[in-house]
Amino acid sequence: MLWVGGAAGGRVVSRREDIPERATGTRDDPAGTSQDFAELRGTTQNMENTVNHTSLSGRTAVVTGAASGMGAATARLLAAHGARVALLARREDRLKELAAEIERDGGRAIAVAVDVTDQASVDAGAARVHAELGAADLVVNAAGVMLPNPIDDGRADEWTRMIDTNVTGALRIIRAFTADLVAAAARGATADLVNISSIGAHALFPGYAVYAATKAALTHLSASLRTEFGPRDVRVTNIEPGLTDTELASHVDNPALGEEGRLGEMFDALGSLSADEIADLVAYVTSRPRHVNLRQIVVLPTRQA
Ligand SMILES: NC(=O)c1ccc[n+]([C@@H]2O[C@H](COP(=O)([O-])OP(=O)(O)OC[C@H]3O[C@@H](n4cnc5c(N)ncnc54)[C@H](OP(=O)(O)O)[C@@H]3O)[C@@H](O)[C@H]2O)c1
Repeated sequence: MLWVGGAAGGRVVSRREDIPERATGTRDDPAGTSQDFAELRGTTQNMENTVNHTSLSGRTAVVTGAASGMGAATARLLAAHGARVALLARREDRLKELAAEIERDGGRAIAVAVDVTDQASVDAGAARVHAELGAADLVVNAAGVMLPNPIDDGRADEWTRMIDTNVTGALRIIRAFTADLVAAAARGATADLVNISSIGAHALFPGYAVYAATKAALTHLSASLRTEFGPRDVRVTNIEPGLTDTELASHVDNPALGEEGRLGEMFDALGSLSADEIADLVAYVTSRPRHVNLRQIVVLPTRQA
């Protein structure tokens, strides 16, 4: 089996003999639903090479952090696969630019300026998503900030911002769209919550204590939420990337730790993933048949692995 990815849209192809005789079943329907099987056959009939992914076409996605980096790349790729995408972040100009690009390419996207640290802003953003795109069935929490500094510096401003964005912000988004995800799964559609955590949840670096704590919290939250969502057929996928080339590091205000210092040295020594490569993973996990939950992914540049 081969994953053919890229910004223009990825797909899984496999040799014809890899296609199962019937779709694998769920606990409620051990034989596999005829609808799933029909979808599978439909896709095989339409492609030169056979495929085994469920189409993302017709899904309604909410992607936070869509102004840049992984969120923007993910939104672009989901839209290229036919999903309607709500782009959420604070920088509205960036979101509008991306929405225009997606629509120029024949996709559907709306720019929704939202600050995930502000409950009223999230409420207003969710209301707009519902009014303009309807209920979501795919939610990606990619909004995040990484602000390392020695704990001795006592940067409560940065601690608060990281906790509010990376943990409470993700929770606000989850609260805003949980009913949508549960309802989508209940009517037999595929429903996904994808949280972008970090290898920082496990790999420890001096200066990163609070960032690491927020990502460990997000990873743990993903695991715990599976106990509530899984039985209702809502998948939760937690992705923990390593070094990825985005603007995340540009907010570090400590020269010794930032791009000019330790972080820059790590990028030079270990290389990095691209935002498109993370987007490719998000498209992959969310396009599995609905009973397949790739629940935890650690993805690193090979030299960091
Ligand atoms: N890059 C890496 O090496 C790496 C590694 C592991 C994990 N991660 C995680 O990956 C996720 C995506 O980061 P990235 O690497 O793609 O960096 P990025 O380009 O800086 O993306 C972060 C996004 O979050 C948005 N954001 C920040 N604060 C926000 C707020 N209060 N409300 C709404 N949106 C907000 C930003 O847009 P606005 O500023 O316009 O709001 C931006 O689009 C983050 O959770 C990060 O922790 C990154």
